[in-house]
Amino acid sequence: MTGFPAVRARRLRATSAWRRLVSETRLSPAQLVLPLFVREGAVEALPIGSMPGVVQHSLDSLKRELQRATDAGIGGVMLFGVPEHKDATGTGATDPDGILNVATRVAVAEVGDALVVQTDLCLDEFTDHGHCGVLDSRGRVDNDATLERYRDMALAQAAAGSHLLGLSGMMDGQVAVLRDALDAEDRSDVALLAYAAKYASAFYGPFREAVQSSLQGDRRTYQLDPSNRREGAREVELDIAEGADIVMVKPAMSYLDVLADTAAVSPVPVWAYQVSGEYAMVEAAAAQGWIDRERAIDESLTSILRAGADAILTYWAIEAAERANA
Ligand code: PBG
Repeated sequence: MTGFPAVRARRLRATSAWRRLVSETRLSPAQLVLPLFVREGAVEALPIGSMPGVVQHSLDSLKRELQRATDAGIGGVMLFGVPEHKDATGTGATDPDGILNVATRVAVAEVGDALVVQTDLCLDEFTDHGHCGVLDSRGRVDNDATLERYRDMALAQAAAGSHLLGLSGMMDGQVAVLRDALDAEDRSDVALLAYAAKYASAFYGPFREAVQSSLQGDRRTYQLDPSNRREGAREVELDIAEGADIVMVKPAMSYLDVLADTAAVSPVPVWAYQVSGEYAMVEAAAAQGWIDRERAIDESLTSILRAGADAILTYWAIEAAERANA
C-alpha cells in the first residue's frame, strides 16, 4: 500500500517484553561503585544538607553501610576522609592514624575481597587552604612538591589495604610517579584509577559541604576547562601512557561526549563519576514533585552506560543495585 511506512520501527516497542528483549544497555550491580564519607570523631552518621540521603559516616555506621553494599552486590566503594584538623601540607592524609587510612583498614577488615575498596588520593580534604596540592611561596599549587606528598599518601593507603587508589588531584605526572613508588616498595598489586579527564565543575558544589572543604577560589589551574574536549582526550592518553589501570571521566552527565570519545579509544576500563551536583539536582527536583525520582535516577545511569562507561561511581549505587536485582 503506497503512502504508508514500509519500515515500522515501533513493532519492537509494542510490549514491555519486547522492549526488555531488545534493550541495548543493561545496568548490573557489579558496575556500581559507592562513594562514602567518613568523618573523624563522629559517633553516629551525620546528614549532609545538600545531599539528602547521603551522610558522613562514623566508623560504626561505615561498617553497616559496607554490609548493605555487599548484600546489594555492588562492585566497590570509594572512601573519602573528613579530618578534624587540617594544615598546609595535609599531614592527616599520610598519617597511618589519619581518618582515611583508619577507615580503609576498617573497610578491608569488614568486607575482605568481597568489594573493591578504593580510596581518594588527593590532599584537598586535608589541607587548610582546601587545594588538592601544596602551595609554593607565592600561593600557587606546586605540582612537583605535591607529587612528593602523593607518593607518601599512596604508600600510606596501600599499607592501610586499599585495593585501588583514586587519583583525583589532576597533577601532571601523578600516575607515573605513583606507579613507580608503589612498584619500588613491592606494592605492584595496588591498582591506579586515574581521574583522567576531570573538569573544573560547578557540579562538585554539594561535595564541598560533604567534606567540609576549606577551599577559597577555584581549581582551574589543575582541573580541565569545561569547554575543552580535545584536551580531555589528551589527558586520558597521557594517563594511559603513564600506566593507569582504569581511566575516569568526571563529571558524567555534562561530559558524555568526552566519555564516548574515551570509550572509543581506551585499552583500559573507562569509568564515570556521577558527581554530587548531579545527585542533588535529581533529589531536589524530585522532592518538589517535579520529576519521577526513580525513573530519573535509572535514566541518568543508563545514559552514562550508553555513552560507554564500564562502571559508574554514584551515590545511588545501593538503591540502583537493589532495583536492578528486584
Ligand atoms: C577531590 C574530589 C572532588 C570530588 C571528588 N574528589 C572535589 C573537587 O575536585 O573539587 C567531587 C565529587 C562529587 O562532587 O561528588 N578530592
